[in-house]
Amino acid sequence: MRASVIAHRDYRIATIDERLYGAFLEHLGRAIYTGIYEPGHPTADGAGMRRDVINLVRELRVPIVRYPGGNFVSAYNWEDGVGPRDKRPTRLDLAWHTSESNAVGVHEFAQWCDAAGCEMMLAINLGSRGLDDARNFVEYVNGPTGSYWGDLRKAHGRAEPFGITHWCLGNEMDGPWQVGHKTAHEYGRLANEVAKTLRAFDGSLKLIVCGSSNSDIKTYPEWERVVLEHAYEAVDHVSLHMYFANRAKNTAEYLALNAKLDAYIGAVASTIEFVRALKRSKKRVTICFDEWNVWYHSNTQDREILAGAKGWPHAPRLLEDAYNFEDALMVGLVLNTFIRRSDVVRIACIAQLVNVIAPIKTEPGGAAWRQTIYYPYLFASLHGRGAALSLYVASPGYDAEVAENVPYLDIAGVHDAESGALTFFAVNRHASEALDVDVSLQGFGAAQVVDHQVMTSADIEAVNTLKEPLAVVPRKGTGAVVGDGRLAMRLSPYSYQMIRLAVVKA
Ligand code: AHR
Repeated sequence: MRASVIAHRDYRIATIDERLYGAFLEHLGRAIYTGIYEPGHPTADGAGMRRDVINLVRELRVPIVRYPGGNFVSAYNWEDGVGPRDKRPTRLDLAWHTSESNAVGVHEFAQWCDAAGCEMMLAINLGSRGLDDARNFVEYVNGPTGSYWGDLRKAHGRAEPFGITHWCLGNEMDGPWQVGHKTAHEYGRLANEVAKTLRAFDGSLKLIVCGSSNSDIKTYPEWERVVLEHAYEAVDHVSLHMYFANRAKNTAEYLALNAKLDAYIGAVASTIEFVRALKRSKKRVTICFDEWNVWYHSNTQDREILAGAKGWPHAPRLLEDAYNFEDALMVGLVLNTFIRRSDVVRIACIAQLVNVIAPIKTEPGGAAWRQTIYYPYLFASLHGRGAALSLYVASPGYDAEVAENVPYLDIAGVHDAESGALTFFAVNRHASEALDVDVSLQGFGAAQVVDHQVMTSADIEAVNTLKEPLAVVPRKGTGAVVGDGRLAMRLSPYSYQMIRLAVVKA
């Protein structure tokens, strides 16, 4: 099979915002406890944080991490997680039917973010709580000493404000499963009032209003219209979530799902434009896709705990999807979509980062390892920074339930003019045929291949485990050749590829 691509240096979509490679950590299962925090672990630092995990997060260059939820945040009292540890209460977490010790709270998480080299994005509880608690929380975190909340923070060991910029106004407030679920009008009005109040404290905060939890929920996309009509002028981003699954064991259908993601982004971008026009506004609200990943492998095993059959366990194994090779292809496809829609998707957070539907897994007292999906996320985060190119792509395709003519070749291109790197991220969706791809390189000058990484597997269900952590890893690719202003490459069936060129300006 053949496909052709044209990449022109000046045909750009947008400068990618590095926050596109963000992540999410929730007080859920073992994300925090025995994920990032395990005082007795051989690699634990003075604060009880696992250094082996910190090193993996640093390797990923995660720019920003959303915290502490998720569904968890909708009944969370942030005050429970500050002050002397021995005085912190254990609470029942209604979202996941577990116990929360509150051993980790905003102070400890801020310290972890510093160690891991990430910025913290905080979510506010707008489920069981409201405006006053939101205001108090922001003042506690960012307020000066000499005020009630700033002084309390100081008394808890931190005089300097944390200086957190990004604030999520609740989580999935459209979801009937959410503690404190609201209608679009109820939520839109509350979000607008909270946003106005937080802006009165600090006009430079970046505020994120809840959009839809998924594109199948019946309130989508009317939810976005109503909420934005209430809050457009007061917020910066609208949050979207989407999870992907291959329950029917149909790989072709599964790997077409980023077309659904693309349509979702397109519809919300249009809704934003509609409200902007309605309000005669100059402001451009953009999308913060702050939860996305594959999530389905663990659904059955989680049922018991979620139904309460095990009582209220602390940090049980929940949402621990073991990701296989085809999931790595899916994650590569999602990241390609975000790069291609980087004009409107400015922030995205893989959900989540450690143990809970995550690229990193840990064993209590034992090792930490990279799941299959770690690698496409790593390559995009390291090399997907610069200008997203508007590629012309001609590829044979197939019809799927979510879209017609889904191309076998899925490709995104990023040019970093500063370092002179031109990187392509490509997935061959064909089960048995290789794709011979011809890329016409226009306006780049001389080029040479400097790196080529390939993920393939004879078994699409192969996973990395504690015993076999390196079963699915990228390998050096061969056969990508540049000559006469063209890049020629052969993409093996069901493969993820990263091809990196060094280019000089013509
Ligand atoms: O990431 C797991 C859960 O998925 C989050 O808590 C929630 O926001 C979403 O439904």
